[in-house]
Amino acid sequence: MAVELKKEGDFAVLTLNRPEALNALSFSILRDIGRALDEVAVMKDIRALLVTGAGDKAFCAGADIKELRGRALVDQKRGAELGQSVFARLHSLPVASVALVNGYAFGGGSELALACTFRLASPSAIFGLPEIKLGLIPGYGGTQRLPRLIGEGRALEIIMTGRNVKADEAELIGLVNAIAEGDLMEVGREFAGKFTRYSLPVLECARRAVQRAGDVTLDEGLRIEADLSTLAFRTADAEEGMAAFEEKRKAEFKDG
Ligand code: CAA
Repeated sequence: MAVELKKEGDFAVLTLNRPEALNALSFSILRDIGRALDEVAVMKDIRALLVTGAGDKAFCAGADIKELRGRALVDQKRGAELGQSVFARLHSLPVASVALVNGYAFGGGSELALACTFRLASPSAIFGLPEIKLGLIPGYGGTQRLPRLIGEGRALEIIMTGRNVKADEAELIGLVNAIAEGDLMEVGREFAGKFTRYSLPVLECARRAVQRAGDVTLDEGLRIEADLSTLAFRTADAEEGMAAFEEKRKAEFKDG
């Protein structure tokens, strides 16, 4: 299977498994990722999704270039829309996702990582949106998510030069949350464990509020925050959290 989905304890783990082509995203793999994400959305007892690539060389080298040449324009547009809609599903899953970038993350591979809630990189990870070198521009969300994450000037420079961004620079500019020394999967679990012990519906409220910050005016964003913070306040977990504070004990959240 070119896309594997497993449940490991509290986590769903999605692995791109096409190492012979550096986990490049054929349209068939994109559709498989979409199906796997639909499963993740209804999985019971998972608290986060970890996304990684098989092999020690690449997270994902981007769209499958061999499939792109000679396509009709209408097919190309449908392809971009497919990639965008699959990555939008990832972005808005009910649980947070962490990209474990274990090598090259180029083009659609960087865009896959950008659609995750968080990104961790191995010290040898290399990011890039090299589409310009192919006479193309990013088409799976990169032109929209990268500037929201690292700012317009830096995003444009990376997209217009197509240059590589090594892990240490990626950390410096906020493209990744951290560089992971040691076993990437283990570090990913530890990283996610720092938030997955909290209430899932309340975590989702936080994520939804922050995700809207880049899309709306400050006034509208503040209205969204007022609504979502009130929704969080209505949960039994909020009652438990505040009671635990007053009773000087550890809160026991039940995801309700
Ligand atoms: N599509 C299809 N096949 C790919 C691929 C891709 N994006 N990237 C790598 N491969 C294949 C290679 O063709 C090669 O296969 P063969 O052995 O059959 O020739 C195999 O993976 C190993 O790759 P290399 O021999 O090239 O490995 P390398 O270590 O010399 O180089 C690399 C690694 C620098 C990542 C290089 O493979 C490369 O530049 N890949 C293309 C990266 C790229 O341009 N990505 C953007 C794609 S366009 C896009 O993603 C648009 C979008 O917005 C969605």
